[in-house]
Amino acid sequence: MSSTPEWATARALADYETFTLSVNGEQRRVTCSDDTPLLYLLRNDFGLTGSRFGCGLGQCGACMVLLNGQPTPSCDLPVSSVDSKEILTIEGLSNDDEMSLLQQLFVAEQAAQCGFCMSGILISATALLRRRRRPDEAAVRAALDRNLCRCGTHTRVLRAVLRAVEDACPN
Ligand code: FES
Ligand code: FES
Repeated sequence: MSSTPEWATARALADYETFTLSVNGEQRRVTCSDDTPLLYLLRNDFGLTGSRFGCGLGQCGACMVLLNGQPTPSCDLPVSSVDSKEILTIEGLSNDDEMSLLQQLFVAEQAAQCGFCMSGILISATALLRRRRRPDEAAVRAALDRNLCRCGTHTRVLRAVLRAVEDACPN
């Protein structure tokens, strides 16, 4: 049985750096190589498993987080590019275990089927509602364009987001 040679381990460790990340308003320190994807750190080091690994290629939206308020896939985002930015994950959307209005409406409209894509969708929808006071249906569809749902729950998702618009800004 072969084992990793000492020189290889030493070289790998020499490539490690320490980063301080701002995640959901808390400072988190982590030591890793500078190309480690943010999603791996969220899930494996910080225990924030709400962001999901789908494609790993920045194409499905399951791993979306807010980066300085912008919805951004975290699966192919190297830690070296985020260490001075505000990161908000799905866990940061609720306060003291109380879900946000949007999360409550997703439950009320039964928007999730298997739920795998939902945190990414909630992140994208939250970014839209923070950016625009009263988005119309076309704007909601455009904002969620990067989020795939293999269960096909788009109609219920749309209904939940539009209900959030109505509840937050009634006529
Ligand atoms: S897992 Fe990141 S975009 Fe698909
Ligand atoms: S609810 Fe299953 S992938 Fe979207």
